[in-house]
Amino acid sequence: MLLQTPVYNLKQFPNVYTPSEDSFLLLDTLEADMNNIIQINPDFIVEIGSGSGVIITALAAFLKNTRCFATDINPEACIATTTTSILNNTCVEACNMTFLTCFKENVFDIIVFNPPYVVTDSEEVFGNGVARAWAGGIDGCEVINQFLKSLPNLMSSKGICYLLLIKENNPQKIINILYGMKFNVNIVKQRKIPCEHLYVLKIYK
Ligand SMILES: C[S@@+](CC[C@H](N)C(=O)[O-])C[C@H]1O[C@@H](n2cnc3c(N)ncnc32)[C@H](O)[C@@H]1O
Repeated sequence: MLLQTPVYNLKQFPNVYTPSEDSFLLLDTLEADMNNIIQINPDFIVEIGSGSGVIITALAAFLKNTRCFATDINPEACIATTTTSILNNTCVEACNMTFLTCFKENVFDIIVFNPPYVVTDSEEVFGNGVARAWAGGIDGCEVINQFLKSLPNLMSSKGICYLLLIKENNPQKIINILYGMKFNVNIVKQRKIPCEHLYVLKIYK
């Protein structure tokens, strides 16, 4: 099943992350796993940190009966996501917040997150605009660890979460943490690109 890459235009949004290899690896993963996604018949899907909105818009274009939401800590990214959604004739509700803090607990059937994962100083994690797109602090894991703590309260009982990581995040350590939280976890895609080894984890209850 083909997931089309949406058209987007970030000219008005210099502080929004431009879709890159990591974004496209997530799109490839969702496309490859689409049969399983359809099987759980998702009512609510969300992309955390939607940036340009290409990933959630691709899902919204494909899953026409599913309510699609996006959140981003960067308000410009929320406008970019809405713009991309409109450009592609889809309906995505983009909300400016950290993670999913303003939503009711355990409602999302699909959660997608391409987090800030680059190893940086801790102070950089609290920067503004596009710095928030990549700065991950110690081991690149400071935002990822916060997300993992809240994950049990985010996913519905049939939920699936797709989380992008790089080698420096120590995927095996993160998998072990998730096992300790009683989640099932698989590495469903990985790709080596110049300077980065990318992984996508599929996490479910
Ligand atoms: C690596 S970019 C990914 C953008 C887009 N999803 C993509 O794949 O092209 C990470 C995004 O997460 C957002 N972000 C960072 N921390 C966040 C948080 N705590 N809650 C929500 N969004 C966050 C950033 O502003 C940025 O848009």
